Amino acid sequence: MNAISASEQAAALKGPRALYEACIASGQLRPDPDQVRVAARLDQLWHELRGWTPAPPPAPAAKGFLGGLMSRLRPEAEPPKPPRGVYIVGRVGRGKTMLMDLFFSCATIEPKRRIHFLKFMQEIHTRLRDLKRQNPGMADPIPPLADEIRDEARLLCFDEFQINDIADAMLLGRLFEALFARQVIIVATSNTVPGDLFQNRPGADAFRPFIAIIRRELDTAELDSENDYRRGREQDDATWITPADETARRRLDRIEERYAGDAKAEETVLHLAAGRDLEVDHARGPVARFAFNSLCAKPLGPPDFLALAQRFPVIVVDDIPALTPDDANVARRFITLIDALYDNGNLLFVSADDTPDHLFPEGEGSDAFARTASRLAEMGSESWLERAGQKDDRLSRA
Ligand SMILES: Nc1ncnc2c1ncn2[C@@H]1O[C@H](COP(=O)(O)OP(=O)(O)OP(=O)(O)O)[C@@H](O)[C@H]1O
Ligand SMILES: [Mg+2]
Repeated sequence: MNAISASEQAAALKGPRALYEACIASGQLRPDPDQVRVAARLDQLWHELRGWTPAPPPAPAAKGFLGGLMSRLRPEAEPPKPPRGVYIVGRVGRGKTMLMDLFFSCATIEPKRRIHFLKFMQEIHTRLRDLKRQNPGMADPIPPLADEIRDEARLLCFDEFQINDIADAMLLGRLFEALFARQVIIVATSNTVPGDLFQNRPGADAFRPFIAIIRRELDTAELDSENDYRRGREQDDATWITPADETARRRLDRIEERYAGDAKAEETVLHLAAGRDLEVDHARGPVARFAFNSLCAKPLGPPDFLALAQRFPVIVVDDIPALTPDDANVARRFITLIDALYDNGNLLFVSADDTPDHLFPEGEGSDAFARTASRLAEMGSESWLERAGQKDDRLSRA
């Protein structure tokens, strides 16, 4: 979605449902009854959170005979129950992330945090390792870790909740139990209903208690509208644009804009093996943009292209010419570049004089080019765009 307007900012003060409606009114979003239903559930949570004060952490137990007697005589009132979080589930492109982000932007509870779930898991593993290293005698690092997380975020919004590995599955059960006990409010998006998480895998049985916790603590809101809003955007999503004219350049500008977001252009030099450098023509956030000749008319090889692929998830190449038999060296480098980007799962957008199938019809290595053309076709497919977009957290909002 585009930048938020003044009327949308005003709507945000009234909650996610008003903000959603303002986005419909301004034409940023198309009306969708299923989304309205989920927006209403998030709106309920928004209101509940405004009227809720989290219970303070429990005070240490009173000491001695008198202290114990006093606390029994004056039993503490049960703190009010926290509002139930929401687990938004549905197929791809239905608007789950969009709705969660609307909710997150309005939520008044502080501190709050929105994070891609895989990144959160990486962070958890690192923090557990650090806690254990700093406190060698510590029996169980989960409670102190949960305390820290609670202090950093009373509201945690997870994008793309998923469980891929048994170690995570076991760890999460205990961590989430501890977070719920500390009244951390959780909202998540996922493609998988809780009951199907980590099923049909070795160790699935051990994971069942975690599913029970999720069901006990979170309401599931299904978002299964008919529209996949990522479809029907061929214009925007074309990855191989022909011919390489002014229109193509402008379309690539828009694509760059979409992925770079607020990032500013900055001079970037990649330090390659053997002390060589590669100056990026135009680097902006996750995007590196090059004229074709800056990449393929230079003596660069596989490790160089791999370094580039790993540093920038989105590569844009302007002005790929039709290649003749005299261009065999350039064509070979282009093949190597595509292999690196393909293996690393990058997003690639180009403007070219011809389609991949017709770009290098004859010359040394033109038969190997057929495989490159096929890889390029896959790299332009919707599923590739989706997967590559999800792989890197910097792109998850694009
Ligand atoms: N009602 C709508 N009108 C127009 N565009 C929409 C609408 N709902 C969502 N979109 C847009 O469609 C794209 C996909 O939405 P979103 O990323 O929220 O889907 P998702 O359900 O999270 O998909 P995934 O499961 O792949 O993560 C986004 O660019 C979003 O802004
Ligand atoms: Mg999403």
